[in-house]
Amino acid sequence: MADSDSRAGERYATRPILDWCIDVHAAHDDALARAFATPADVPAIMVGPSEGQLLALLCRLARVHRAVEIGTLVGYSALHIARALPPDGHLWSIEFEPRHAALARANLAAAGLGGKVSVLEGAGVDVLPSLEAHGPFDAVFIDADKVSYAHYGRWAMANLRPGGVVLGDNAYLFGELLDDSPRGRAMREFHQIVAASCDSVCIPTPDGLVLGIKR
Ligand SMILES: C[S@@+](CC[C@H](N)C(=O)[O-])C[C@H]1O[C@@H](n2cnc3c(N)ncnc32)[C@H](O)[C@@H]1O
Repeated sequence: MADSDSRAGERYATRPILDWCIDVHAAHDDALARAFATPADVPAIMVGPSEGQLLALLCRLARVHRAVEIGTLVGYSALHIARALPPDGHLWSIEFEPRHAALARANLAAAGLGGKVSVLEGAGVDVLPSLEAHGPFDAVFIDADKVSYAHYGRWAMANLRPGGVVLGDNAYLFGELLDDSPRGRAMREFHQIVAASCDSVCIPTPDGLVLGIKR
């Protein structure tokens, strides 16, 4: 059910309520805690614990075997996704910053997932073509430079199998989705690309998560 306020987008999730729900549904084990912590020179910009758990559950629901992630950081969302894959599944995750990629590899190895995740260094637009031979993919998770989201969305539509899922984080663009800026235009185009080829929704996580199932 919804009341008129929640139907209009009002949220009842206070910080204590969110923390309580994380404790119950998405508590960290040692490997997740390690990948959630970043050294001082690396920004703590990974998805939240509930969003990480949501990514994992969506991948399990969609029976994802082969997945691509754009934007690894230090491997927190990659760890969630990789754990959701079957034993013969694989995640290819692209990261622009070599230091982030090195930390991600160490975190994934510490979690026993080193063989299940390939962390590829470079810009998403440059690395994605090299992955096409491994496709078509069951899932693509986009969480990198926002100005390239339209490009990433087109790539996902071309390289997902029918029934495969595309996920795009920061879909509200920190409140700037409707701005007349390169990032705003790219993010709006991403929404429209996904909606044109998928059954889709923008899940109202704190910064919006686009979910599409390719037709
Ligand atoms: C928000 S973080 C990713 C967080 C990660 N998905 C998680 O939740 O654990 C975005 C990452 O994308 C990387 N990045 C930025 N521009 C990129 C590009 N053009 N190609 C690939 N990665 C990029 C950044 O270095 C950063 O590590």
